[in-house]
Amino acid sequence: MTNGPDPNKLYPNENIKQVCYIKNVVTNPNIIVGDYTYYDDADGAEDFEKHVTHHYPFIGDKLIIGKFCAIAKGIQFIMNGANHQMNSVTTYPFGIMMNGWEKAMPALADLPLKGDTIVGNDVWIGQNVTVMPGVTIGDGAIIAANSVVTKDVPSYHVAGGNPARIVKKRFDDELINYLLGLKWWDWPAEKVTANLPILVSSDLELIKTIE
Ligand SMILES: CC(C)(COP(=O)(O)OP(=O)(O)OC[C@H]1O[C@@H](n2cnc3c(N)ncnc32)[C@H](O)[C@@H]1OP(=O)(O)O)[C@@H](O)C(=O)NCCC(=O)NCCS
Repeated sequence: MTNGPDPNKLYPNENIKQVCYIKNVVTNPNIIVGDYTYYDDADGAEDFEKHVTHHYPFIGDKLIIGKFCAIAKGIQFIMNGANHQMNSVTTYPFGIMMNGWEKAMPALADLPLKGDTIVGNDVWIGQNVTVMPGVTIGDGAIIAANSVVTKDVPSYHVAGGNPARIVKKRFDDELINYLLGLKWWDWPAEKVTANLPILVSSDLELIKTIE
């Protein structure tokens, strides 16, 4: 009896190489990913980092993703470096063209920086989703296919569209608060394995019986 796949391996299932545990392929120290979180992409799941754009070290913003997240093909995490200066006559980035124009490099204070991008635990992100800089997606949230997430999504809510709006709440407040306290994603693998029938049951009362 084993206790699930090794989260330190590239693929949980060697026969399905489109599903990759992305903490094992990320090299940028400003991208932090938890155990069991995967990216699913038949065209190169190991290339997850290419889907995090405009992520420049001089800005220092972080992408932090929790455990047990499922991220579908086509994700784009757009980071703060994508946003040009907007409080000036022109948005053209003269500074990066060099050749005498480097003097127009904006100060960090003049850039519309929105902070880190944070994805909680047990978040399911559907196909072709774009997440804008500085957004926080709470634990247990679902992002519908083809959404552009411009604002925070609360835990255990479903958001969809462009811009993504809350389309529904997954559970009542009592269960949401219980789950946020339970933090099952922090259990050891043995406990996750032992409780799998409860974690995947549609009888939502069962989870409340966990010791
Ligand atoms: C979000 C999702 C899970 C919703 O499923 P559901 O619980 O069955 O919800 P419903 O289909 O009843 O839709 C609920 C509401 O969300 C809206 N909605 C569903 N998908 C949407 C989308 N992609 N964008 C915007 N709104 C969406 C519906 O129109 C509906 O709105 P209404 O309440 O105003 O009528 C599903 O639509 C989805 O996007 N799944 C992702 C699939 C995917 O990309 N998988 C990748 C491989 S893992």
